[in-house]
Amino acid sequence: MLVLRKVKDSDVRVVFDLANDKTYRAFSKNSAQIPFSKHLEWFKTRAIINPYFYIFELNNSPVGIVRFDSADGLDFYVSIVVSVQARGRGCGSQMLKLALSEFKLANFEIKGTVYAEVHRDNAPSRKLFEKNSFTMESDVQDNFIRYKFQGRNV
Ligand SMILES: CC(C)(COP(=O)(O)OP(=O)(O)OC[C@H]1O[C@@H](n2cnc3c(N)ncnc32)[C@H](O)[C@@H]1OP(=O)(O)O)[C@@H](O)C(=O)NCCC(=O)NCCS
Repeated sequence: MLVLRKVKDSDVRVVFDLANDKTYRAFSKNSAQIPFSKHLEWFKTRAIINPYFYIFELNNSPVGIVRFDSADGLDFYVSIVVSVQARGRGCGSQMLKLALSEFKLANFEIKGTVYAEVHRDNAPSRKLFEKNSFTMESDVQDNFIRYKFQGRNV
């Protein structure tokens, strides 16, 4: 069974490896590999204080992360990575559902929106969001499509 928990200090290495996943980087706006020193700085100052940064475990082993980021505390952008070994078995879909439901619980008073920005060629990711109540909100811009969550307001 997939278990969700908040990211903690000792996850620094697991999160580093997932953040540097080749496919994830290739389909990110900044596709360069992330050096560990830069990751460590980001992890200590930003990631660990993000209350909506979740890690998922299957049989006590980490299989992926989901994170909601916001610049204004109103609109959030969701990002997701599943470890290579666990892909294509429904983990991504389950993780997204669980994370959205946890996020909604934590944010029941907020009236913002959840978005996802997905590279046009990232077929698994596009399918994942389209299957989970996200609809295309914009045309392709600089190779990215903006999806908007159509579930109940968060
Ligand atoms: C995108 C990602 C999170 C999906 O995770 P996953 O565990 O493989 O997803 P699921 O197994 O739940 O599959 C989701 C849907 O995508 C489909 N899918 C999986 N691989 C696919 C592929 N290569 N091409 C097309 N569709 C694919 C699945 O069939 C499934 O749809 P279905 O239920 O109708 O069959 C995972 O591929 C990943 O971590 N990719 C690298 C990081 C990334 O790109 N993140 C998204 C950034 S926005």
